[in-house]
Amino acid sequence: VRVRLASPIDIPTIVDLERASTPAAHWPRHQYETLFVPTRDRPSESKAWVVEDESGMLAFLVARRVGAEWELENIVVAEGVRRRGVATLLLDKLVAHARAEQGSGIFLEVRASNEGARALYRKAGFEEVGLRKSYYANPCEDAILGRLRL
Ligand SMILES: CC(C)(COP(=O)(O)OP(=O)(O)OC[C@H]1O[C@@H](n2cnc3c(N)ncnc32)[C@H](O)[C@@H]1OP(=O)(O)O)[C@@H](O)C(=O)NCCC(=O)NCCS
Repeated sequence: VRVRLASPIDIPTIVDLERASTPAAHWPRHQYETLFVPTRDRPSESKAWVVEDESGMLAFLVARRVGAEWELENIVVAEGVRRRGVATLLLDKLVAHARAEQGSGIFLEVRASNEGARALYRKAGFEEVGLRKSYYANPCEDAILGRLRL
């Protein structure tokens, strides 16, 4: 498998992967399109990476930098290839990039019931530093706030 930066031609596949995953963050397609609009001279920037093999795209991650802080906005691995380290590859890529850009930390929110994702983030070194009450809708649920200091 290989990890690479996403490009606009990846959007349909990213949207398909996202739609197939209930706990993923769900964005309208145009929000993915804005990821590729140049961000020179803006205080924030977005980055997306994908993992693929010869069969096609297996996973994607989207993150956004605001000042020195990064926010992990979405990560989805195709159901058939989970528990093989694919999400860890993507997190490693984000951490390396954020470090290289002198980032101070990476933040994320995750549904309290999403035990798999919480375990993934803990294993990657994130601390659970807070709870945002009723942060999610459909169904209403608390968010756990994760932070990785860089
Ligand atoms: C959460 C998700 C991204 C994990 O992807 P993955 O490629 O399977 O994760 P990895 O293989 O890198 O897992 C690394 C470690 O995280 C933990 N982990 C990952 N998924 C887990 C699960 N379902 N249950 C328990 N622990 C889990 C394990 O410790 C795992 O290491 P191990 O397999 O050696 O035990 C994937 O399940 C997914 O796409 N879920 C749907 C979308 C989602 O919930 N996204 C997060 C929204 S905040």
